[in-house]
Amino acid sequence: MSDVFMNTYHRLPVTFTSGDGCCLFDVNGKRYLDFSSGIAVNCLGHRHPALLAALDAQANKLFHVSNYYQCDTSETFARKLTAAAKMKKVFLCNSGAEANECACKIARKYSLAKYGEGRHTIVTLKGSFHGRTITTLSATGQDRLHKDFGPFTEGFRFVEPGDVNALKTALDASTCALFIEAIQGESGVFPQSAEFIAAAAEICAKNDILLMFDEIQCGMGRSGTFFAFEQYGVKADVATLAKGLAGGLPVGATLAGETACDVLGAGDHGSTFGGNPLAAACGIAALDVVNDAAFLKGIAEKGAYFKKKLEAMKPEITDVRGMGLMLAADLNMDARTVLEKLLDRGVLALSAGEGRTLRFLPPYIISKEQIDEGLAILGGVLKS
Ligand SMILES: Cc1ncc(COP(=O)(O)O)c(C=O)c1O
Repeated sequence: MSDVFMNTYHRLPVTFTSGDGCCLFDVNGKRYLDFSSGIAVNCLGHRHPALLAALDAQANKLFHVSNYYQCDTSETFARKLTAAAKMKKVFLCNSGAEANECACKIARKYSLAKYGEGRHTIVTLKGSFHGRTITTLSATGQDRLHKDFGPFTEGFRFVEPGDVNALKTALDASTCALFIEAIQGESGVFPQSAEFIAAAAEICAKNDILLMFDEIQCGMGRSGTFFAFEQYGVKADVATLAKGLAGGLPVGATLAGETACDVLGAGDHGSTFGGNPLAAACGIAALDVVNDAAFLKGIAEKGAYFKKKLEAMKPEITDVRGMGLMLAADLNMDARTVLEKLLDRGVLALSAGEGRTLRFLPPYIISKEQIDEGLAILGGVLKS
């Protein structure tokens, strides 16, 4: 085990050296079927030809240019992204946490400019995950992540998902925004109920509270629609993306519709690397593949197939949740032991929540044969 990194991850004892499609290969040449996509990042798998070509072409022209100048690649990416998202404008950054920081700044300034002091509370959900910076941790509704790092950014309030009455109370006159994941990822893949999202949209619209969706894990097509919140028939004032947005290059995006797209002005916010041409080139290539009706339908179909197969794996699997290729299975045993056995047998999956949940975030290009292959191995592990 390496002694050079800070000890922030439970790293598994495997060293990957290359990838191809839905497979990774370790230093010994052993093949692993990837049901994790680097936690929803490698959405087009490994070494996708469109991403390789885009990166190569851009690398031969320009690595980086300051945001104080124009850049055609970044501009094209921003235009394609806002069109795919049906939003007006975007701020580009490098990670999910940064995208969420920007969303929080937009919410605060929107309300301050319009209503003055005292309307700065951002309501988020218990069980949510919004990032690791102090402010995005403050927004995260999980006590276990809060120990050791206070004091936190003030002005966040948490509501139990699904509790419409609690939501009504929380969205009071001190609130500027509601910030939610349509499908909570880290806490165990929990899609919000339709009633809860409908109530949220109604209360927010009525009170000029910004409805903001963190789509960092569930967005960019993973649920079978470009954004997961689209499946609830609502519109967002602000939405954040990162992870799979450029298929593996670091990029984050804060998108805003008509209400909030002009809140930030020059000097209000910035990011040295945000919209970097290399990431933007891969973002264009990834969007060209993903933002296509037939491709998104394929994600939904393959997800339904995957889910049905998991549901058939009883009694070891006690519950199955999720949408598209964002799925979770609760086990009647410890998930970490199962993950280690899967690794040994050449399958990569993830855990989520409190220890008995397996999470699956395979690349969108996964085939039904590969789903069968990986789940046959899972079946064997669960029975062993
Ligand atoms: C829903 C959600 N929001 C925010 C983040 C933070 O993203 P990043 O690790 O890129 O900062 C994550 C990461 O897992 C996430 O799942």
